[in-house]
Amino acid sequence: MNEPKTRHSASALLQNWTSIAGIALAAGGFFAALCLIAFDFLRGFSSPYMGILVYILLPTLIWIGFVLIGLGMWLEHRRLKRMAGLPSLPSLDLNDPRQKRRFIAAIAGGFVFLMATTVGSFKAYEFTDSVTFCGSLCHTVMNPEKVTYQNSPHAKVLCTACHIGPGASWFVRSKISGLYQVYAVLTHSYETPIPVPVKDLRPARETCEECHWPDKFYGSVERAYKHFLADKDNTPWNLRLLVKVGGANPSHGPVGGIHWHMLVANKIEYISDETRQKIPWVRLTNLKDGRQIVYESKDNPLPADQRNKDIRVMDCIDCHNRPTHIFNPPNHALDVAMWLNRIDPSIPNIKANASQALVESAGAPTKAQGVRQVDEKLGKIYADYSDSPKIKQAISATQEVFSNNFFPEMKTSWKSRPDNIGHKIWPGCFRCHDGSHVSKDNQSISNTCASCHTIIAQGKDSEQTSVSLTGLEFDHPGGEIPEGTLCSECHTGAPQ
Ligand code: HEC
Ligand code: HEC
Ligand code: HEC
Ligand code: HEC
Ligand code: HEC
Ligand code: HEC
Repeated sequence: MNEPKTRHSASALLQNWTSIAGIALAAGGFFAALCLIAFDFLRGFSSPYMGILVYILLPTLIWIGFVLIGLGMWLEHRRLKRMAGLPSLPSLDLNDPRQKRRFIAAIAGGFVFLMATTVGSFKAYEFTDSVTFCGSLCHTVMNPEKVTYQNSPHAKVLCTACHIGPGASWFVRSKISGLYQVYAVLTHSYETPIPVPVKDLRPARETCEECHWPDKFYGSVERAYKHFLADKDNTPWNLRLLVKVGGANPSHGPVGGIHWHMLVANKIEYISDETRQKIPWVRLTNLKDGRQIVYESKDNPLPADQRNKDIRVMDCIDCHNRPTHIFNPPNHALDVAMWLNRIDPSIPNIKANASQALVESAGAPTKAQGVRQVDEKLGKIYADYSDSPKIKQAISATQEVFSNNFFPEMKTSWKSRPDNIGHKIWPGCFRCHDGSHVSKDNQSISNTCASCHTIIAQGKDSEQTSVSLTGLEFDHPGGEIPEGTLCSECHTGAPQ
């Protein structure tokens, strides 16, 4: 009966403060997580902090609990071993029915726990990929990108579909840089505005092309504009263009157009400044015969020491850099509001005044103050008509333009976010197609207006009677354009 004990049961090993603390931690974390997960299934969390708590912090606590339990048991075992000279590892005898039962229970318990952590980590992964996590957690910092995204054609596409894309390596890279971003937000060490372009954005061909097939044939895409001039009558000025997007799938239509030249038939590389707004050097490689042509800017030559440095292969983002974070310039946003009659174009000078009010309020310290300033400024100008519903509606529509496009807290607006499609307000296509980029044999990158689009209608409402499919010469409402002047030298998106 008095046989010396050769083994200590697991429960004996658990009797130490480290393991007890571990049990308390794991059990507490487990029950808290269980209640909150049940709550998430029933009601859903509205705050992103809850997601972090339930799917990241509580599971970490549970794991720490388990580690403490194990550590305590090991220390206890070592202590008992030293006292009684036990073998260095606990022994297990599966012929003993009690031990067998416990062994099976332990395996089953471990299995359930593993399942739970797998589901938990999947939820954690899903959550860190969600728009709430990306867009709301760092609400001040990401607010400009989130608001513009919500108003864009990609509002239903997850942030991660463009910023991370499929596959493990970019996932890991993004989570590592994400950790740094969380740190930057917590320590307020981020820059305002967030600098663009995003340098380590994944190559667009691996993200955009998951949904958009570059060979797809678009033919010509029609773009219709209704501008309102900055005169007393806010004279409407219509423009309709067919932009020759084209494609490269002969079963859908003739091969050619912007996408075909840029993406399918040729490879284009370039060297630029940090902002990618000045491009002094361009290399075209014909993918069929491998012939190369280098074009250099006469106006803005590349310094000799920068040759062969940071050559970038042109992809979707070099044209479509604002597919979703679209910060509308005041003139553009007001044109749309007036077109849709949210601002009545019969109010004298409203285009010029509203645009001026927006620009002057952009420097306010907060968005709320900016919105108030818009009201004050327009209220003063139209003080004699302050009771008119037309004026009230125009002011509130202008305030809405401010809210959706100006983010004073992050110093972000159209000014810090150039859009490279087109050439009117930013150099865009004219970064290369400006006529001054020439090859050794003096050929320039094409810059005739018709190489990219056909103007099919233009003019005041009364003049716009017919549509011309052969194309019209551009009639510039601002008078003759001086030779060699880029559109963006005069047009800034705000009052001139
Ligand atoms: C349709 C693709 C797409 C989606 C969806 C998308 N982004 Fe972007 N985002 C881009 C591209 C492209 C750029 C790079 C612009 C550049 O480098 O000039 C960018 C840039 C950014 C920047 C840098 C600042 C800026 O305005 O360029 C931030 C911050 C950002 N995105 C956050 C988000 C967040 C948060 C979401 C989800 C709410 C999101 N993005 C969804 C394509 C996308
Ligand atoms: C997860 C799928 C998805 C990804 C990834 C994606 N898009 Fe889109 N894209 C869409 C959808 C959906 C639309 C809306 C189509 C519609 O309204 O007809 C759209 C619309 C567009 C349009 C037309 C916008 C307009 O004014 O109507 C452009 C241009 C575009 N995407 C470019 C891009 C670029 C560039 C990227 C990569 C940075 C990208 N997309 C990534 C799904 C995606
Ligand atoms: C050389 C510049 C350029 C490049 C590079 C480019 N695009 Fe485009 N794309 C345009 C222009 C210009 C349009 C015409 C519509 C517009 O003005 O937005 C257009 C139109 C589109 C449209 C149709 C929009 C609509 O309104 O129907 C989609 C989608 C699109 N591009 C996706 C892509 C994707 C994806 C890539 C990369 C594989 C890409 N583009 C590369 C210039 C470019
Ligand atoms: C990085 C420089 C660069 C930028 C930016 C750029 N392109 Fe190009 N593009 C070229 C080069 C180089 C060629 C080939 C040479 C040529 O055809 O003149 C070309 C060719 C073209 C062609 C074929 C022209 C023809 O007559 O055969 C079209 C169309 C075109 N680009 C449209 C655009 C549009 C639209 C944009 C802006 C959204 C744009 N490109 C922006 C460099 C650029
Ligand atoms: C390299 C291609 C390319 C060339 C060359 C080019 N354009 Fe454009 N143009 C575009 C694109 C792309 C857009 C914008 C489409 C959009 O808004 O989505 C545009 C837009 C425009 C618009 C409408 C702008 C607005 O906001 O009202 C006008 C007007 C225009 N172009 C006139 C011209 C004239 C005039 C020339 C010749 C001096 C010219 N373009 C040469 C590509 C080009
Ligand atoms: C020398 C300066 C200058 C240059 C260069 C210039 N514009 Fe203008 N543009 C003006 C002025 C001034 C107006 C009249 C503005 C008003 O009354 O609102 C105007 C009006 C317009 C309008 C109608 C109103 C509006 O604001 O949208 C369009 C469209 C336009 N220009 C397109 C272009 C295009 C495209 C180019 C380049 C091919 C260009 N402009 C080059 C000065 C210029």
